[in-house]
Amino acid sequence: MVGGTALRILVRALYPEDAAAWHHLQLGIYREQQWFVGDTPPPVEALSRKLLAVDASHDLYLGALAGGVLVGWLELHRYTTPRLSHVAVLTLAVALPYRRRGLGRRLLQEAYRWARRAGVEKLQLNVRAANLAAQGLYQTEGFVQEGCEARQIRQGDRYEDNLLMAKFL
Ligand SMILES: CC(C)(COP(=O)(O)OP(=O)(O)OC[C@H]1O[C@@H](n2cnc3c(N)ncnc32)[C@H](O)[C@@H]1OP(=O)(O)O)[C@@H](O)C(=O)NCCC(=O)NCCS
Repeated sequence: MVGGTALRILVRALYPEDAAAWHHLQLGIYREQQWFVGDTPPPVEALSRKLLAVDASHDLYLGALAGGVLVGWLELHRYTTPRLSHVAVLTLAVALPYRRRGLGRRLLQEAYRWARRAGVEKLQLNVRAANLAAQGLYQTEGFVQEGCEARQIRQGDRYEDNLLMAKFL
């Protein structure tokens, strides 16, 4: 039961054994066809390999679990090039039935803690221009628009801009 009750959410690092659940969560988000640019998530094995290869000073994979089920994730990847290593790129998504319950904000706040500890100063992300929910969250969290790639995404005969947003910690 999602609506009406207080959700007990656990936010923790993702591990290789979470790969199948992570794939399942991503499948749901990709099926909505509005938020990401690709059509399908990486296979379970590829996700498992990513989680095995985590470099703790550069990568963060966080999951939000409701009743033990993975319903949200955030990832941050810091550039390895020294002159860019104060910057990390962020991806975030929450399963449709769990949206607007504070999970996105909670994942972000956990990510800020990791980033500050790791010496990251700037978080950067891409968001589709039509994705007003994500922009709403990022704006209330202090992200500002830094750029716009005009007509960067083409879906059939429709084009959409890609926005670059960032927050200094
Ligand atoms: C964007 C996303 C991660 C937000 O997650 P969420 O858990 O629903 O967000 P939260 O509940 O923490 O929302 C916090 C605040 O963000 C803003 N916000 C969130 N969803 C919003 C919406 N649909 N419309 C307007 N503002 C919204 C609000 O200010 C909200 O605070 P409020 O609920 O007190 O008004 C979620 O909508 C999602 O996963 N979307 C699909 C994938 C995606 O777009 N990922 C981001 C790609 S850049």
